This record gives sequence, C-alpha cells and structure tokens, in this order.
Amino acid sequence: MPACERVLYGADYNPDQWLHDDAVLRNDIALMRRVGATSASIGIFSWTALEPSPGVYTFGWLDEVMDRFAQAGLRAFLATPSGSKPMWLSELHPEIRRVGRDGRREPSGGRHNHCLTSPMYRAATARINRELALRYAQHPALALWHIGNEFNGDCHCELCKHSFHAWLRRRYGSLDRLNRVWWTSFWNHTFTDWSQIPTHDPSIDGLCVDWLRYSNDQHVSFLENEMAPLRELTPDVPCTTNFMGTNRATNYWRWAGALDCISNDVYPMPDDRDDAWRRALSTDFTHSLMRGLAGGKPWLLMECSPSSVNWGKINKLKRPGVHLQEVLQAVANGADVVHYFQWRKGCGGCEKFHGAVVDHEGGDGSRVFGECAEVGRVLASLSPVVGFSPRRAAVAMIYDWEARWALEASVGPKAGDSGDRYTEACIEHFRALRTAGVEVDLVSVETDLSGYRAVITPALYSLSEATARRLTTFTEQGGVWVATYLTGYVDPHNLCWRGGFPGPRLREVFGLWNEEVDYLHDDENTIIRGDMFGRARETHALDIIERIHAEGARVLATLESDFHTGLPVILRHHCGNGETFYLGARLAEAGTWAFYEFLAAEIGLERTVLPRGVVRKCRVGADGPVEFLFNYNRRSVEVDLGPHTFHRLTDGQACRGTTTLLPYDSLLRGVSRLQDTETTAHRPIAQPIALQPS
Ligand code: GAL
Repeated sequence: MPACERVLYGADYNPDQWLHDDAVLRNDIALMRRVGATSASIGIFSWTALEPSPGVYTFGWLDEVMDRFAQAGLRAFLATPSGSKPMWLSELHPEIRRVGRDGRREPSGGRHNHCLTSPMYRAATARINRELALRYAQHPALALWHIGNEFNGDCHCELCKHSFHAWLRRRYGSLDRLNRVWWTSFWNHTFTDWSQIPTHDPSIDGLCVDWLRYSNDQHVSFLENEMAPLRELTPDVPCTTNFMGTNRATNYWRWAGALDCISNDVYPMPDDRDDAWRRALSTDFTHSLMRGLAGGKPWLLMECSPSSVNWGKINKLKRPGVHLQEVLQAVANGADVVHYFQWRKGCGGCEKFHGAVVDHEGGDGSRVFGECAEVGRVLASLSPVVGFSPRRAAVAMIYDWEARWALEASVGPKAGDSGDRYTEACIEHFRALRTAGVEVDLVSVETDLSGYRAVITPALYSLSEATARRLTTFTEQGGVWVATYLTGYVDPHNLCWRGGFPGPRLREVFGLWNEEVDYLHDDENTIIRGDMFGRARETHALDIIERIHAEGARVLATLESDFHTGLPVILRHHCGNGETFYLGARLAEAGTWAFYEFLAAEIGLERTVLPRGVVRKCRVGADGPVEFLFNYNRRSVEVDLGPHTFHRLTDGQACRGTTTLLPYDSLLRGVSRLQDTETTAHRPIAQPIALQPS
C-alpha cells in the first residue's frame, strides 16, 4: 500500500488532455484541496504527451504537475502509459496491435488492445517506464505506480500462437500427453505437430481452458516486464494495477502475488427500479473478493464514478445518499483508498459525458462537487481504521476462475440466461449468507482454511485431486463443507471424473451419487420440500436440478414434482469430525436464505439479524471497532440499534434504540472526530473558484 495515515481520496487525473490551458491545470490543484483530495492517478493514457516521437521525451508538463502535487501535499499514483499505444508506435510496429480470433489485425486506435507477447511492445513499455522511474524516483510526490489500466483480453497473432505452443510444450512435454488430456480423438482433432494447434476451437474444451490460462499468464508476465525497471529504480514505491472485479478472463488469484497491493474498479449501475439492496450485496461480494486477494489486508478502490457513467443503456444519476454509501461500503469492506474515474470531464472523446468530480462548468458549485466534498470530509474522519484489516469471518467461500472457465468451456451442463452461471451461483449464495446475517470471506482453492468453521463452494464444477483432498481434510478435522449442484464434474483438464459425481471420489465424503441433471423451464414449478423451509415446508427449484441417490447421507429435503418426486435434493453427511451439506438444485432465493438460516443454527454460526438489505460491517481501528450500518434499500426501514449511539452521516444526527433508517442511509459508530464535525449535509461552498480565462 502507499504509505497513508488517512483514507486516501482522489481520482484519475488526465492533465495531458489540458496542456493547452494552464489555468485549468492550476485550478485543478485548488479544486482538489477544496474537495478534500489527497491523491490522484496521473496520466494513465499519456504516452504521446510524454514521448511524441520515438525517443523524444517531453516530461516538462509532468514535472510541473508533480511539483504542484508536492507543493500541495498531494500524492501521485503515477501511471505507466501502456493502456493505450501512441499512434506513431502503432503505425511503425503494426505487430503490437491485437489480432482477433478471425485472424484480422485491429487498426490503430482504441485502447487496452496491445498484443501481450510482442517483444517490441514489451521493450517499448519497459523503456518508457524506465524513463519515468529515472525521472521521478526521488520526487516527493511519488507514492505508487499505477501499472497500465484494466489489463484484459487476448490476442491471436502469430507471435501469441507460437508462445502458446511454447507454453503448451512446457506444460505437457509431449504431443501425446496433450492429445490425451484434450481428448482429441474426438472428431479427428489429434494433433501430429505442435504447429497445428489453433488458439481457438470451442469443440476442444480442454484447449479453451488452457488458452484462458495461457492468456492470463501472459498478462502477469507483461505486468512483471513493466514492473521490472520500476522495482529496480524505485524499490520502495509499491506497484499495483486496477482489477475489474470478477472479470471473466483474469484469474486475479494468480496476479495478486505479483503485485504489492490490490486495487479494483467498481461501477454498480444505479437503477431506480431494481432492488437496490441486491445490487449492493453483489458489490459487497466483489469487495470481499478484493479483501481475499489482498490476503485480508486493506486494498484500494481505484475507480468508481462520482455520479453516473456514460456507457450504460440508461445512465441514472445516483440518488441522494447513494454515493456516500457506496464509498463507505468500500471502506467498511477494507478499502484504504477511494479514487474516482474521473477528476474532470474532458470536452471531447467518448468519455466526455462520464461522471467526474469537476463538470464542464469547471468550478466547485455543482451538486456532484458538493457531494464529493462531503465524502472528503467524512473520509478525513475515518483515519483510525486505516491499515487495519476487517475482522476475519467464520465462513469462507471459494471463488475459483478455473471452475468458471471449465464450466463456460463445456457445452452443457448449465442452464439459465446467464453466460456466467458460476459467478451467479457464488453471488446468490453470498447474498443469502449475508441476508442470514453471516459474514463471509472470499478465498481461493489454495487459501489456508484452518480457523474457518465452514467453507462454501458453490458450483465448484472443476475440482483437482489436490483441492478435493484439502477440502476433505478440512472437513475431517471438524469443518463444515457446503457444496452445491454442479460440483466435481471435471478435472483441471475439463475431463469428466469417472466413478460418479461428485468427483474425484467425493461420493463418500458427501454420502451421495449425483446421477443425472435435469433442466427446468422458467415457468416450471418444481417443488422442494423440507422442514427448513418455514411453515409451508416448501420452496422451489430454478433452472437446474440433479437426480441424487443418498449413499449414507441424511436427506433434509426432497424433490416433489414430476418423475423426480421423492428424490433427495438437500443432504447432510458426517465426514470425520466434520460434516458436509449438498444442495442438488438451484433453490429459489427464499429457499437459499432458509437453508443458511438453518445451517447457521445447526452449526452455531454467529449472526447479526437485521431487516433485509440492512447491513452492519465492523472494521477494527486504532481506537477500537468502527461500525458501519447501511440501509441498502430504496425505502425506509426500522431497526433497533439497542443502547449504542450511531451517527447518521447525512445530517450528523445521533441515533439509538428504535431508529428509522432512511433510504440509502449510512450510520457510523466509534469515530469520535466525526461526532465533533458539524453536519455533513450538502452546503454550497462559500467561495466558488472562478476559472481564470486561458
Ligand atoms: C474504466 C476505465 C476508465 C474509464 C471508466 C469509465 O473501466 O478504467 O479508464 O473508462 O471505465 O467508466
């Protein structure tokens, strides 16, 4: 993490778009101070401004920005500019442009579209990074390296194809082995020469998964190549790159070890029609994943929007209270840094209407600026939590990109509209646990599980022998393992486990055999009956059900429709000193909640029971615990706060006992300085800063 004694607050800053107008740049510093900013990510797409032609460097403007930052006590998260390529470089070396699956090379332009392999691009990025590090190594404003931007995607050029072949040779050693694990006898796909192997063929599902693994490794090695000169010249300045939550093609568990700290970009799309609380709990899932990637340590919210985005279909403004809540939600979940995209709206380009702290109007009188200044004031009072990790939960949930990739690459067995059945399953179970008042940590298949009471593994479709063994040992030693439909179908090559699902050899661990899968129409009402489902003793299944034989497990609920009637669907089994639970269907939301309430009671999990969509998070700080209480709902909700005094952040009001939480309310307890500050409600800023004419 960058050294910080308070929650750092700032934005992506693109002075390179304003070099023609120094008055704007000077005013930016004054406005940053006024909004309470401490830092900014500078020059993410500024390569041409730094190197307008090969080997010609124009650092003067950045020197000035860095000096102004230092004078104002602002910290620079200095970006390396690899996220978009200069036109001159792209035209001079077309091989740095990506090639699509169709074999067509992209034209110059766009962004985030460089070839991951090109030695030329790797050399060029390392060179500009070295120049940046040489120039600013001793600069007092330099606090962090922001490597590129949102690395993502793949390239199918000849260079990448050859490097994929080399990667496969290293992995498998021989074509025989590769043919075996890719099951290439199917449809005459047997490769007789490495050069025959394509980068894409959806009918070879082992290839699909290996291509994703390979591209992921290429990203990490690209990152390492970028960081090498920075680590050599500025060993004390941490390096990070901004993640994209549960982005499909990036197995961030593999990236985390290469970086010094974890950063993420989050853009929950505000919508005044949906259930805001569901969306907010999904965001909690992403935040928990970042905490997991950071090994439980604080992380950086590197981008969020201070108002609306401009890339959605319906770009709603955030309703009053939403923005403050979103920011605090990240802090409650362990963020020590909150940055926006973007500091100032540009006048052109495809992001000119994206939310920003400073509008085209240019001053500090806008509603959004006022809200951001409020956020700045609140964050300034949260210093006691900085550097402290949120409490470890008793329950761990595994999020595994490998399982997601294998499921995606397999034709069947999955159902529903979502292209990402795996992540959907994890989020559903996370939401249900949180709704039942149970805290959850997100972990990888390799995380040490000792100390956890239970591990939840939704739809862990691919399972290696090693992971199965680790989870079994955890259970035998007294833990509780909850698995669901789509567990243990394939091995890491995406080859089906033989001997009956769940594999490998987990039939004994779960005391059951999952023989077949049936898919449900949206309007099909497949009843599930069990004592845990309230007075009606019923819930229903969605999308997918498995036909299970109990082989020693106790049946807790059965299917009660169609020819499935009487088949077990929720089962419980002893395993060593611990227990397993298996849910052989995607349950309706209320059913999943009921299951976790039942589980919590049965295995003695600590719960904080609050109305639906009301969430309490605790972060232990230097002066004791700091508690956050959020109403994620679009409506008011009544809660009993007991004898504790919380402070409502929008009007500073002290609340205790039975309290009505307003829509999107955020309350805090345990921060003494906040109680001293007067109301944080929006006030016009006394002296608007007028833009000086350019
Ligand atoms: C992010 C990206 C930013 C900006 C933002 C707009 O994904 O990193 O550069 O484009 O989206 O929402």
